[in-house]
Order: sequence, then C-alpha cells, then structure tokens
Amino acid sequence: MLAIIVAMDLNNLIGKNNDLPWNYPEDLQYFKQVTLNKKVLMGYNTFLSIANRLGKALPKRTNYVVTSQKSLPYGAIPVNNLNEFLTTFPKDEELFIIGGKQLYTSTIDLVDYLYITRINKTFEGDTYFPSFDLNDYQLIDQKISGDLSFEVYKKVQK
Ligand SMILES: NC(=O)c1ccc[n+]([C@@H]2O[C@H](COP(=O)([O-])OP(=O)(O)OC[C@H]3O[C@@H](n4cnc5c(N)ncnc54)[C@H](OP(=O)(O)O)[C@@H]3O)[C@@H](O)[C@H]2O)c1
Repeated sequence: MLAIIVAMDLNNLIGKNNDLPWNYPEDLQYFKQVTLNKKVLMGYNTFLSIANRLGKALPKRTNYVVTSQKSLPYGAIPVNNLNEFLTTFPKDEELFIIGGKQLYTSTIDLVDYLYITRINKTFEGDTYFPSFDLNDYQLIDQKISGDLSFEVYKKVQK
C-alpha cells in the first residue's frame, strides 16, 4: 500500500528554501501520528531538510531516501533505483511517501492513498505539489481544526 502524505496551502505550495513555509505544530503531530513505526520514503532534499531540523533522521520510522548518494548519515537507507524499490516493495506493507516535489511528481500516479493537510491560507515559497486530478480520488476522512483540514483520499479504481 502506497500513500503520499503532504501539507499544502491554498495554492498547493509545499516548500520554501528547502524547508516548510509555515509552522504548524499540530500538523507535525498529525504527520508523526500517521507515520510512526512505518516505513517512509523521501527525496534527498527532504532528507537534508529533516536532518537540518532534527539533527537526525525521523525517529521510530524506517527512513528510505531516493538519492544518487551511496551512503547516508543517521541510519537512513539510500534508494538508488526508485522503480526497482517500488516494484519489489511488499504489496501488503505500508509505505508513506513524504516528499518533496520531485518524489511526489514521480509517484503521484502510483499511490493508493493521499493524506493531505490543507492549510486554509496562502504563504510565500518556491516549491509546489504537482498537479493531479482530484476526481481520481474519493475523500474518505476529514477532520477540521482551525486553519487546517486533515483529509484522506483513496484512489478510485477505474
Ligand atoms: N509540505 C510538505 O508536506 C512537504 C513535505 C516534504 C518536503 N517538502 C518541501 O519540499 C521541498 C523539497 O522538494 P524537492 O523537490 O526540492 O526535493 P526532494 O524530492 O525531496 O529531493 C530531490 C532529490 O531527491 C532525489 N530524487 C528524488 N526523486 C527522485 C527520483 N524519482 N529519481 C531519482 N532521484 C530522485 C535526487 O537526489 P540526488 O541529487 O541525490 O540524486 C533529487 O535531487 C522542501 O522545501 C521541503 O521542505 C514539503
């Protein structure tokens, strides 16, 4: 089972200067709750961003990083061939794709679920979620809290 998890503003903005454009502790808590004890896959820039923030990889998760690097610090596991990794990943296991834009773009057509935190505001930044057709998905869960809407979508089988 493949899932994307992402937070975006009203313009689908997701990043600024290789960091998040906003500070929403409640969204970071949600991200932690959804991904804890799971396997997560990220692009190299997102790994650098997380390592810069935390001084380590995401704790209590298996951190896979798509990269041309052969080895990585903090116990992160390099993935040099994304296609091979995804085709051999066990179908009955959950894998959360946690960004950034390049990795979302490579995987948006492959995922079964989208966990989208919509932020009901606009921010300044430089990195946007790739365009996709929301009609391909069914909203299966939604919780609203202030500016944030935590939404879960399931891909519709056609
Ligand atoms: N709002 C959110 O939920 C959210 C979540 C995550 C990230 N972000 C933001 O997104 C921004 C980073 O996004 P980004 O697009 O610059 O970087 P990214 O996707 O995190 O990483 C890009 C790098 O990862 C490797 N890579 C990614 N996809 C690959 C593929 N399909 N095949 C081979 N290598 C691949 C390459 O590294 P090599 O150079 O090593 O080959 C590439 O340069 C930051 O601002 C971050 O804060 C936001």
